Amino acid sequence: MVDRVKSGIEGLDEMLEGGIPKSHMVVIMGSFGTGKTTMGLQFLNQGLKEGEKGIYISLEEDEKSILDDAKAFGWDLKPHLDAKRMALVKLEPTDAKTTVTRVGKELPDFIKSFGATRIVIDSVSLLNMLFENEHDKRVMLFNLTQLIKKTGATCIMTAEVKDDNPLATRDGLAEYVADGVIALRNVEVADKNEMQLTLRVVKMRRIRHSRRITPYGIGAKGIEVHAGAEL
Ligand SMILES: Nc1ncnc2c1ncn2[C@@H]1O[C@H](COP(=O)(O)OP(=O)(O)O)[C@@H](O)[C@H]1O
Ligand SMILES: [Mg+2]
Repeated sequence: MVDRVKSGIEGLDEMLEGGIPKSHMVVIMGSFGTGKTTMGLQFLNQGLKEGEKGIYISLEEDEKSILDDAKAFGWDLKPHLDAKRMALVKLEPTDAKTTVTRVGKELPDFIKSFGATRIVIDSVSLLNMLFENEHDKRVMLFNLTQLIKKTGATCIMTAEVKDDNPLATRDGLAEYVADGVIALRNVEVADKNEMQLTLRVVKMRRIRHSRRITPYGIGAKGIEVHAGAEL
């Protein structure tokens, strides 16, 4: 039986027979507003609750914005940051040269020395944008994934989806490197004046997972997956 790590989202853990397999790299893909950042924070917060260390690597929001996002769900990350149980790394997509150097040189050492067992990269799509061509993107992603794997940490990478395909990441790379892929969607409900969020586990190596298209919501306490519910 593969060891599991609790995602912090009960319904999702149920779909995964107990949680995300330990040391897996899982891609959470979806368009804007589907809750990717929330899911990453919830996963990290769960680790902190269990006494683990975590690293959040952000290419989108700055530190204050991330702390505010988390706080809105009742997760106070500041004390964890101060106590160095959590690290927040903001990479600037506008400063590609510096950032690429940091990703290649500093980040690997930092991940190793910090002792994190959970890592979130939000988002791998923006990280990819820093690299000029397909080859460089592939090499970076492969190296980074290998490095994280070596530390034994469990990792979530968020990714934007292709405009015309909600089941493929924009670069079409991360889902192949990943051990797992979870797709989030915002779909229109016929005859109803509303949108429904749905989640599916597209891929999860080494376990028997649910393949159901499952409704979820974003509420006061974060993501709530309604594992047993009908669409
Ligand atoms: N505190 C909150 N309570 C309830 N829902 C929230 C809260 N904060 C954000 N949301 C919902 O989550 C959405 C944003 O989620 P986010 O994780 O930032 O998505 P993504 O990273 O995929 O763009 C918002 O558009 C809103 O619908
Ligand atoms: Mg986001």
